[in-house]
Amino acid sequence: MTPTIFLTRALPDSIMREIRRDFRLRFNREDRPLSKEEILRGIRKADGLISMLSDKIDREIIAAAPRLRIIANYAVGYNNIDLGAARERGIFVTNTPGVLTETTADLTWALILAAARRLPEGERLARSGKWTGWAPTQLLGGDVFGKTLGIIGMGRIGQSVARRAIGFEMRVVYHSRRRLSLREEKRLRLSFLPLPDLLKESDVVSLHLPLTEESHHLIDRKAFQRMKPTAFLINTARGPIVDEKALIEALRKKKIRGAGLDVFEEEPTIPPALRERKEVVLLPHLGSASLETRIRMGRIVLDNLVAALNGKKPPNMVN
Ligand code: DGY
Repeated sequence: MTPTIFLTRALPDSIMREIRRDFRLRFNREDRPLSKEEILRGIRKADGLISMLSDKIDREIIAAAPRLRIIANYAVGYNNIDLGAARERGIFVTNTPGVLTETTADLTWALILAAARRLPEGERLARSGKWTGWAPTQLLGGDVFGKTLGIIGMGRIGQSVARRAIGFEMRVVYHSRRRLSLREEKRLRLSFLPLPDLLKESDVVSLHLPLTEESHHLIDRKAFQRMKPTAFLINTARGPIVDEKALIEALRKKKIRGAGLDVFEEEPTIPPALRERKEVVLLPHLGSASLETRIRMGRIVLDNLVAALNGKKPPNMVN
């Protein structure tokens, strides 16, 4: 019998066609995230689930799906899934690593430059009809080239961000659970630093680590106290790595100069106190949002579904 897939949000057209070719598909036809009740209803007869990073796949949802053999998350991060509950039931959990690395690194650089050079403020002024012409002190930002970039988390995305920094002639320091080999550090022109030193020395601090119990609120009030008052914080990883209340306080008290954020603690809610600050560049979680990458992510999801539903180990298993 053809396996049934439950998909919580429509994917790019070419991927939808491929899923329909191989499986019976039940999916959310509306352009909005599903509620927990809707996921519970949809998953009952599913052999495979394609979930989004915004879907919380908890123990109760997993228990409601007696036939489920795989949860294929359409994201590289998988902190939205209860891995323990899936493991107990022998359900594979997979992600989409590798294919979104460069796209996310590009977006990180867009945020670094936008925050440091005040691009959104400049864009708003140019559109407003109120621009009175070039002025020597208008919208002065901070330079990026030649400064120190501190990367926290040196996995694939952290390394791609570091490679791009070479073109900006930056000094790149990093902190990571796993230190790279000296050969890798030399190739990427990186120096390893303990976290407090990295925070103290960096002009731009960029986060590229997964959300875990250890990394939850890693950037807290104490971390902001260590940072330079001229520094920028960039987060394209996961919102809860930063204590948002501490960030708002740090911005108010000018403990740092600005921030570029693609992710938030309670997406899609962004606290008004953050929305009103002009020294913060805000994006609606666009890290992997290029058409090419979203198609590549879909192909990986399909590879994982096909393997798991044919009784094989899926290539991108995380549990
Ligand atoms: C991921 O895949 O985890 C990214 O956050 C998507 O943009």
